[in-house]
Amino acid sequence: MKRIAVLTSGGDAPGMNAAIRAVVLASHYFDVQVIGYRHGFNGLLEQEYQILQSSDVNNIIQRGGTILKSARCQAFTTDEGGRQAADNLTALKIDALIIIGGDGSFRGAVHLGRFWSGKILGLPGTIDNDINGTDATIGYYTAIDTALESIDRVRDTADAFERIFLIEVMGRHAGFIGLSAAVCSGAEQVLLPELFTDNLPDLDSLAGHIQTAQKIRGKCSYIMVVSENIWPGGVMDLADQLHQRTGIDCRPVILGHVQRGGSPVSLDRILASKLGVYAVEAARAGKTGIMIGEHNQQMVEVPFQDTWNQAKALDPYLLHIQQETFDLEKNSNNP
Ligand code: F6P
Repeated sequence: MKRIAVLTSGGDAPGMNAAIRAVVLASHYFDVQVIGYRHGFNGLLEQEYQILQSSDVNNIIQRGGTILKSARCQAFTTDEGGRQAADNLTALKIDALIIIGGDGSFRGAVHLGRFWSGKILGLPGTIDNDINGTDATIGYYTAIDTALESIDRVRDTADAFERIFLIEVMGRHAGFIGLSAAVCSGAEQVLLPELFTDNLPDLDSLAGHIQTAQKIRGKCSYIMVVSENIWPGGVMDLADQLHQRTGIDCRPVILGHVQRGGSPVSLDRILASKLGVYAVEAARAGKTGIMIGEHNQQMVEVPFQDTWNQAKALDPYLLHIQQETFDLEKNSNNP
């Protein structure tokens, strides 16, 4: 193996730079050259790349975003796009391609495999943590901390004014960030997509919960963590509807892309570093068509299709403790 290419695709995630660094350093250790494609799969189509020297990855492990830039690329999903990308990889004599991204990127990897015979490996990089086969994805731990820091701040002002806040967090269609942030912040309520697969949250019961909190605790702060895409009209509309039902002022906060940025926490840097090194070794060993993940502190190789075929489950213990928190009346009666 002489030449490995690496790219970052889809939503960027803190720790992607740490993964690029690990790929570069591990490859150089084995005298393998590294090409970095820029702007995700767009770079593959446009042959937009740079040779990555070790000096290019100095001082990047602490930086959020991705030095290779990222993109979502529709043109790549066509047969013509797949063929063009394959031709470009062949022209550059690339032996293996490492794709850092989410499930959309892994679908892209499978698409590319129809046209190109080189080795294709994936590293899970998304704040959403919605990739089956790995306990965590690169960026997830940082996103929880970022959301949590903001929610803690909102709690301070909510306490001061004894107000109700609805805080919308990212996750696309998964509730991992929402559940973790809710548990860690002691939120009174959490709305996650996994809990409302067939129906919308019931407004009367949400309003009733807020009123119960005020009945038991007196006028008090109340935090509801709401996953994005769960309520048509978003958290602004939900806050409005709850205000109409309860007569209590409900303030919406959308955390948004703040959750995607920032310096990766150590857990993300460590995960990204391990996965990057393992991917290079796996490519050298001739492995292909797999995502490298971590499960029970072991590196695992997961066929691309398995990363999206099965939905990843939320942690049952975190769900349980959040439901205990939710049961205000029962908790208030406990000795
Ligand atoms: O997949 C990461 C993510 O940040 C999701 O949580 C969110 O739904 C989506 O990307 C936002 O995408 P965009 O940055 O393209 O608006």
